Amino acid sequence: MSLFITFEGPEGSGKSTQARYLYEYLQNQGYPAILTREPGGTPISDAVRRLVLDGQWTTMEPTTETLLFAAARAQLVGEVISPYLNLGGVVLCDRYADSTYAYQGYGLGRNLEELRTITLFATGGLLPHLTIYLDLPVEEGLERKRRQRDELRERRELQQLTLPLPHLPPPMPSDQEAWNRLDAREVAYHQRVRDGYMDLISADPERWRVFDARLERETLADQIVAAIVPFLSDVRRLNDER
Ligand SMILES: Nc1ncnc2c1ncn2[C@@H]1O[C@H](COP(=O)(O)OP(=O)(O)OP(=O)(O)O)[C@@H](O)[C@H]1O
Ligand SMILES: [Mg+2]
Repeated sequence: MSLFITFEGPEGSGKSTQARYLYEYLQNQGYPAILTREPGGTPISDAVRRLVLDGQWTTMEPTTETLLFAAARAQLVGEVISPYLNLGGVVLCDRYADSTYAYQGYGLGRNLEELRTITLFATGGLLPHLTIYLDLPVEEGLERKRRQRDELRERRELQQLTLPLPHLPPPMPSDQEAWNRLDAREVAYHQRVRDGYMDLISADPERWRVFDARLERETLADQIVAAIVPFLSDVRRLNDER
């Protein structure tokens, strides 16, 4: 059997960090696993990602934003997630449809039923078996991201100073990755997003597992592994003779 696990939570709560830890764990344990993220994960979806997160598009309509996320998701599901699940693998996805409900629904006030219809159209109704929720007060998450952005800038500046000109600097996350158009929205918006996640969780508690994102990275990673282990019993390992 296959397993589809998504990571959700407010900005800077450690989704990407924990998704990577879990991916490494699964690989070490010999499970067929892929790690992907939203928006992105395919060349087409990555192009949409650049568009939707670009800070220069200050006039983007909420509807446009919603449909762009849905378009990127449709491509990711069709090209990557569904085929891999059909092979019996484990798919880890850093954000998925719940982000649409939390950000465009609760955050921007779009109608949740309409968002569900658009999501159904985009995904064919594909739902995660399990969703890891990393909970963090909004200000703490934004502070983590500001720090991350500043560290990246410093590293880039240092590199420009130390590298002789003909050598191009190695690839590094862009400023856009560390601090994007959506991060720049007001704190109240991010607070609505977090409250929205709480609503989504209480409406479907079976699927969600909630973690305190203020814990140490390794402690969290251990807790997340403990939560998913029961779901792995039906997944065949790569060297499984069954
Ligand atoms: N448990 C933790 N404790 C303290 N800092 C952490 C923890 N986990 C991650 N961080 C740091 O917080 C910042 C954000 O982490 P990460 O990028 O994993 O979050 P994210 O939820 O994926 O953020 P985004 O919303 O931007 O996708 C990074 O600088 C990361 O090193
Ligand atoms: Mg991330």
